[in-house]
Amino acid sequence: MLSIIQKIIARVYNNQERHYHYHDSLDHRSWLDQTTARIEILAEFLRDDGSLWISIDDREVHYLKVACDQILGRKNFVTTIVWQQRTTRENRKVFSNNHEYLLVYAKDIKKFSKTRNSLMLTPEVRGRYKNPDNDPRGPWQSVSANVQAGHATPAQFYKLEAPNGKLHVPPSGRCWVYTMEKMQEQILDERVWFGRDGNGVPRLKRFLSEARQGLTPETLWLANSVGTNDDAKKHIIKMFPDGSVFDTPKPESLIERVLAIASSPGDLIIDAYLGSGTTAAVAHKMNRQYIGIEEGKHAITHAAERLSHVVNGDETGISSSAGWGGGGGFDFYRLLKCR
Ligand SMILES: C[S@@+](CC[C@H](N)C(=O)[O-])C[C@H]1O[C@@H](n2cnc3c(N)ncnc32)[C@H](O)[C@@H]1O
Repeated sequence: MLSIIQKIIARVYNNQERHYHYHDSLDHRSWLDQTTARIEILAEFLRDDGSLWISIDDREVHYLKVACDQILGRKNFVTTIVWQQRTTRENRKVFSNNHEYLLVYAKDIKKFSKTRNSLMLTPEVRGRYKNPDNDPRGPWQSVSANVQAGHATPAQFYKLEAPNGKLHVPPSGRCWVYTMEKMQEQILDERVWFGRDGNGVPRLKRFLSEARQGLTPETLWLANSVGTNDDAKKHIIKMFPDGSVFDTPKPESLIERVLAIASSPGDLIIDAYLGSGTTAAVAHKMNRQYIGIEEGKHAITHAAERLSHVVNGDETGISSSAGWGGGGGFDFYRLLKCR
């Protein structure tokens, strides 16, 4: 089965900038026509649970959203992610533009919702689980035992008796999350916490071992977790100290997050605007298959070179977080014009 799960169209911005390796300055109509035609083709390759991720800035994002709605269907629009792509202030502009967008579409939103991955619990979230009562079920964190009373049934309003006999009532406008019978079962099972001295407001214990193994991805991606364009540039300079700097690379950690959410090992990723090869490098390190398309010479000087480093055990970028130690390989094809 052809397992193309995802395509990332890396930067189809049309922000009127001229970069050393390519120009990004078509007139709006031509840009939109060309981009739409490519997205139409790319969408055909998507697996039923696949998704399309497009990075773009605010010059064209709204037009692109409308075009994608027409191609993939408005119901298959998943979200717009805001990526903090720079942390320094650009004083020459009216506003210092510090973010870009990732438009996310599914081929079929229902199928994508079932297969999209959660993010791994961060050490910070894990650190919130403690075990002050040495519960044999392991670390837990406490959550409120009362909820808003809006949709409550009468059985959720009662005086809750703690094991030490103290009576508790829910705060005004709130009720207990469980009926009295269910709450008593929870107390007997030592799943209700009344504080170290037993006199505290009742709270429910939520065990790490029973927690959903992952976090729902959020839509605000800050530089301190996924990196900036500048971080990516520094990375490229480190990899190619003697080469020309590529202007607009994506940080590996940004693409790592995209692939972690949208794909699993073995899935096939397409980046139709490969640039310096970030998507391919990250896909390789994360054991995904990949196809990259690039029209500039940097396909050779940057992307292919970079992939050779990766195969040979590149230690930069996400290598340590991905546990990358080298291996695998890739084919490089040059498309010739036939007349
Ligand atoms: C912003 S860069 C991609 C950056 C990439 N994400 C990275 O991390 O390095 C966009 C790339 O798309 C390439 N490109 C633009 N139009 C193209 C086309 N029609 N076919 C193939 N590549 C194209 C440009 O040469 C440029 O390298």
